Amino acid sequence: DKGPYPYYMLKEIDEQPNVMRKLASLYTEESGKPNVDAELINAMKQADRLYIVGAGTSYHAGLVGKKLFEKLAHVPTEVHIASEFAYENPLLSKKPFFIFLSQSGETADSREVLVNVNAHNYESLTITNVENSTLFREATYTMLLHAGPEISVASTKAYTAQIGVEAILAKALGEAKEQTIAEEFDIRQQLGLVATGMQAIIDEKDTIDDLAKKYFVPANRAFYIGRGIDQTVSLESALKLKEISYVQAEGFASGELKHGTIALIEEGTPVIGIITQKRTANLTRSNLQETESRGAATFTIVRKGLAEKDDTLVIPDVNELITPLLSVVPAQLIAYFTSLNKGLDVDRPRNLAKSVTVE
Ligand code: F6R
Repeated sequence: DKGPYPYYMLKEIDEQPNVMRKLASLYTEESGKPNVDAELINAMKQADRLYIVGAGTSYHAGLVGKKLFEKLAHVPTEVHIASEFAYENPLLSKKPFFIFLSQSGETADSREVLVNVNAHNYESLTITNVENSTLFREATYTMLLHAGPEISVASTKAYTAQIGVEAILAKALGEAKEQTIAEEFDIRQQLGLVATGMQAIIDEKDTIDDLAKKYFVPANRAFYIGRGIDQTVSLESALKLKEISYVQAEGFASGELKHGTIALIEEGTPVIGIITQKRTANLTRSNLQETESRGAATFTIVRKGLAEKDDTLVIPDVNELITPLLSVVPAQLIAYFTSLNKGLDVDRPRNLAKSVTVE
C-alpha cells in the first residue's frame, strides 16, 4: 500500500533513513562491532580475491563495494556485470569468493553465474532483499537487505541497503584482518549520520522538484560526472534518470569527458557534478567548468565539508567511504520529479519489468 504517496518510488526513497537504522541495529552491536556470521567472515578471510556479480543498479552497488572491500579489508575485488561474466570465463584467482548482489534474488543473468560457481565448488554469498529467492537458496551464505518490499521498477532503497550491508561486511572483514582503517571506521555511528543526512536531503525535495521542472524536463540529454567513488554514483544517477524520465543520460568519469564526449554538450545541456571526495573535488569542479564554457547548465551535489558559495545541492558530511549513500538521494529525486513532471508513470516505465528472469 502506498498510503499518501502518489508513487511507490517516492515512498521507497522516503524509507531509506529507516532502512539505514534497521541495518545498523540488525548488523551491528551497541558497541559498534559488526554483528555478522563468523563463518562467513572466516570464509571471506581465506579468499585472495572477491568477485562481485550483479546487474543494473545492483552492479552499481557492487562498484561501491569494490572501494569498500579494497580500502577497509585490503582485499583485491573485481566487479562484474552478470550477463558478461557468464560467458566470458574470466581468469580467476587461486581462492576466489563470490558475492551476488540482487534485490529480487531472481535475476537470470546472475543466477547463470551462480550455477557455474556452484559447479566449481566455490563459496559464495548472496546479498538480497528477498528471503528464499533463487539466489538466496543457491548461495553458500546469505545476508538480507531488510529494506522491505521494493515495488517501483526503479530501484532506490535496495541500492542504498546493498551499500550499507557491503560497508558493514567490509568493516567486519577488515577487522578480522586487523586493518587499522577498519578498526577505526565506526560503521554504526556512520549509518546513524547517514539516516539523518538522508532525511535532511529528502526534506529539500521542493528545491529538487523546481530544478527538475526547469532544467531536466526540457532536456533530451544530461550528464552526471564524478571521480572515483563519485563516478560510480554518476552511473547509478544516470540510470535512474534514463529509466523513468526517458532523458538520455550518461554517467561519466569527469576527467574523461574532454576525450570525446564533451562534443555532445550544447546550450542548456544539464551536467551535474558529484563532489564528495577531498582529493578530487577541485578536479571535478574544473571539468564542470569546461562543460559550462561550452554552454552546459551545470549543477553540483557536494558534501558539506567541500561546499562553496554557488553549489546547488549540499549534502551532509559522512565518512568519505560511504558518501554514495547520500549523494545518490538527490539524483533519485531528480529522476522522480523529472518523470512526474513529464506526466509519466513513475513506477512502471515502458519496456521494463521489476525482475528480469530471462538471460
Ligand atoms: C534499475 C533496476 C535494475 C535492477 C537489475 C537487477 O533501477 O532496478 O537495473 O537493478 O535488473 O535486479 P536485481 O537487483 O533484482 O538482481
